[in-house]
Order: sequence, then C-alpha cells, then structure tokens
Amino acid sequence: MQIAQQQRWDPLVRLTHWGVAAGVLANGVLTEEGSGAHQWVGYGVAALLALRWIWGLVGSPEARFSAFRPSLGRAAAHVRAIGRGEKTTHRSHNPLGALMVYALWATLTVVIGSGVAMTTLPNASTPPTAALSNGQLQAPAASEDDEVRQAGEDGEGEGDEVIEEVHEVAANLLFILAGLHLLGVAFEMRRSGRGILTAMLPGGRAPRCEK
Ligand code: HEM
Ligand code: HEM
Repeated sequence: MQIAQQQRWDPLVRLTHWGVAAGVLANGVLTEEGSGAHQWVGYGVAALLALRWIWGLVGSPEARFSAFRPSLGRAAAHVRAIGRGEKTTHRSHNPLGALMVYALWATLTVVIGSGVAMTTLPNASTPPTAALSNGQLQAPAASEDDEVRQAGEDGEGEGDEVIEEVHEVAANLLFILAGLHLLGVAFEMRRSGRGILTAMLPGGRAPRCEK
C-alpha cells in the first residue's frame, strides 16, 4: 500500500487567492469605475490581502514569507535550471513565482491605496458616503457616463488628478502582471504537470490510500 498525497495550499491561501482574483476581475470588467460596488469590492480585496499577510507571518510553513523570499539570484538560478531541462521541486512558490507574487501584492497595494485616497482625501473627486450609500456614484447634475469625471473636474486639484492617474496606471499594470502570472502557471503546467494548479484548487488535503 502506498500513500499518494495530493499536496494542496492550505485553505486560507486558496480562499484569499481566489477571492483576490475574483475581486480584481470584478473591478476590471464588471463594476462601474468608482461606483459604490467598485469601492466595496476593493475594500474586500484589501481585507483578504491583509488576512493573507498576517498568515504570511503566522501561517503554515509553506505560506510564510520566509518560505518564498524574493531573490533575483535564486530566480536567475531557477531560469538556468529550466534551461538545462532540470525538474526542481519547491515547498512554496518557486523563485520566479515568488517575484511575481511580490510584484502582484505591491501593485495591488498601490491600486487600493490610490483608490482609497481618491475617495477619502479632502477635495476628493468621489465622496465615499454618497457613493457607498447608494451603491452607485451620485455626482450632482451629471449625465451617467460623465458622473465621475464631472465630479472630479468641479472640485479637484492637481493632486487628485495625479492620484486618479496612479490608480489607472497601477490597475493596468496589475492586469498585465495577472496575464503574465497566468502564462507562468501555464508554462509550469507544461513543464511539470498539473500539480501547480491543482494545489490551488478546492479539495481535501488528507492523504489518500491506494492499493
Ligand atoms: C481590486 C482593486 C481595484 C481595481 C482592480 C480597480 C480598478 C479600477 C479601474 C480599471 C478603474 C478605471 C480607471 C480609468 O480608466 O480611469 C478604476 C477607477 C476608479 N476606482 Fe478603482 N480599482 C480597485 C480598487 C478601488 C478602491 C479600493 C477604490 C476606493 C475605495 C477605488 C476607487 C475608484 C474610483 C473613485 C475610480 C474612478 C476614477 C476616476 O475618477 O476616473 N478603486 N478602478
Ligand atoms: C487577477 C487574477 C489573479 C491574481 C491577482 C492572482 C494572484 C496570485 C497571487 C498573489 C498568488 C500567490 C498566492 C499566495 O501565496 O497567497 C498566486 C498564486 C497562484 N495563482 Fe494566481 N492570481 C490570479 C489569477 C489566477 C488564475 C486565473 C489562476 C489559474 C488558472 C491562478 C493560479 C495560481 C496558482 C496555480 C498559484 C500558485 C503558484 C505557485 O505554486 O507558485 N491565478 N496568484
């Protein structure tokens, strides 16, 4: 009898991963820019990230920051190993994946930080109470499409425009990184099998006994 253990990321990593991915997708394609729903989804993503980072300090060994420290040297060595056709195993993210994880987290932080700043700083273009209480942005005397922009132009200083620009550029960078992240996962699946993906999918962690 042999124990065939299907390795999975722990439930908190899986939950926060798919929650963040769904939130980013929702704010990229579903919610109206700057609407109450957009802000709530953004806050939800922020809460999941905070939870994941606490887990990075106190969570399971593979989920801890110490298990996937960012290192250009290790990433370069990993690329060379791929070039030599070597199959490597890692108890957490591989060194290239680790760089991508930190890049995604850093970009998400800028997107969320700029979003919150836009809606909370004095002279902000989007009053948070109006937006959140209605589930949609209510700009005075504006046609639907121009609501956000109009509200911005009325009372907005140059600083607000800069924050808006930061939010837009960082969000676009986030979408590019997420696309590269998917290519990375697909590449690793071709190289080493489906394990990298199944580890992030729902399913038990318990060892299965096979005859
Ligand atoms: C998952 C996180 C988020 C993503 C992916 C995201 C993405 C985006 C995108 C793509 C736009 C359109 C940018 C443009 O083309 O002008 C946008 C606009 C906006 N977002 Fe977010 N966002 C996120 C979180 C937030 C948060 C947390 C807030 C505020 C609490 C926020 C507030 C806004 C506002 C007010 C606008 C309208 C900006 C304008 O006046 O042009 N976002 N967001
Ligand atoms: C906007 C969408 C996405 C974002 C922002 C994102 C972000 C992330 C982050 C931050 C991690 C690190 C997880 C952690 O340690 O907590 C990760 C890992 C992972 N993601 Fe995503 N992800 C997205 C979409 C997807 C999709 C659609 C898939 C599957 C097709 C996927 C598959 C994976 C896998 C397999 C890992 C583990 C990689 C490894 O073992 O090193 N992700 N992702």
